[in-house]
Amino acid sequence: WNGASEAKPLIGKKALVTAGPTYEAIDPVRFIGNHSSGKMGYAIANRLHKLGAEVTLVSGPSHETVPNGVTIVRVTSAEEMLNACLSSFSESDIAVMSAAVADYTPAEYADQKIKKNDDALSISLKRTTDILATLGQQKKVHQTLVGFALETNNELENAQSKLQRKNLDFIVLNSMKDAGAGFSTNTNLITIIHRNGETQHFDLKSKDEVAKDICQQILLHQESL
Ligand code: CTP
Ligand code: CA
Repeated sequence: WNGASEAKPLIGKKALVTAGPTYEAIDPVRFIGNHSSGKMGYAIANRLHKLGAEVTLVSGPSHETVPNGVTIVRVTSAEEMLNACLSSFSESDIAVMSAAVADYTPAEYADQKIKKNDDALSISLKRTTDILATLGQQKKVHQTLVGFALETNNELENAQSKLQRKNLDFIVLNSMKDAGAGFSTNTNLITIIHRNGETQHFDLKSKDEVAKDICQQILLHQESL
C-alpha cells in the first residue's frame, strides 16, 4: 500500500499557496521581516498535492523542505510575492494565502549601507499591496479563495471583517492566545469562519493535522460549486 491507493479528489485542479515571511530591504545588508517559519503553508501545499492537485507554492525565505511534487517559486519581498501570485491566480482553482506578508516596506531603498551618525534614526515606510484582497477582486465563481487572520483581540469580529473585505470563501483564524500556537511552533489552534457566518472551532493540533482540516473544507467548497 502506498499513496497511489489514496483517494485523489483534486486531480485536475490547480492550487496556489503562499507561505513564509517577506523581507523588505532597507539597504544592501538590512531588511524588515517577521518570524513566520512557513510551516503552515508548506503543510497545506503538501496536503493539497496528496489530494491530487497541481500545486504552486510561492514562498518567502523559509528553511522548510519543499514537499515532493510541489512547484516552488521563491520570492523575497511583498512585491515579488504579489507578482508571482498574479501570474498564476487566474489559472488556479484554489488559492490559500498563508504567508505573513509585510504590511509596510521602506519608502526608499538606500543603495549604499546606511552609516550610523545620529543618536536616533527614522525610516519611512509605505503600505504594501494587499495580495489577498487583490486576488479577491479578481476571483471567479469556480475559485476557492482562503485567507488567514492573525489577531490578538476582537478575534472573531476582526477575522469576519477581513473575510468580507477580501471577498474570501473562508478565513482561518490563528489564535495567538495559546502558547502552543503561532509562528514558529509545530502546532496551531484555529477557527474557520465561512462566508455564511458558520464558525468551526478546532482543537490544538500539529500543523500537518491543521492542514488536513483546512484542506477538507477546501474540498467541500470545491464540491459545492
Ligand atoms: N495578506 C496579503 N497581503 C498583504 C497583507 C496580508 O495577502 N500585504 C494576507 C495574509 O496572507 C493573510 C491575510 O491577508 O492571509 C490576513 O493577514 P493579516 O496580517 O492577519 O491581516 P491584514 O489584512 O494585513 O490586517 P492587519 O495586519 O492590520 O490585522
Ligand atoms: Ca498584516
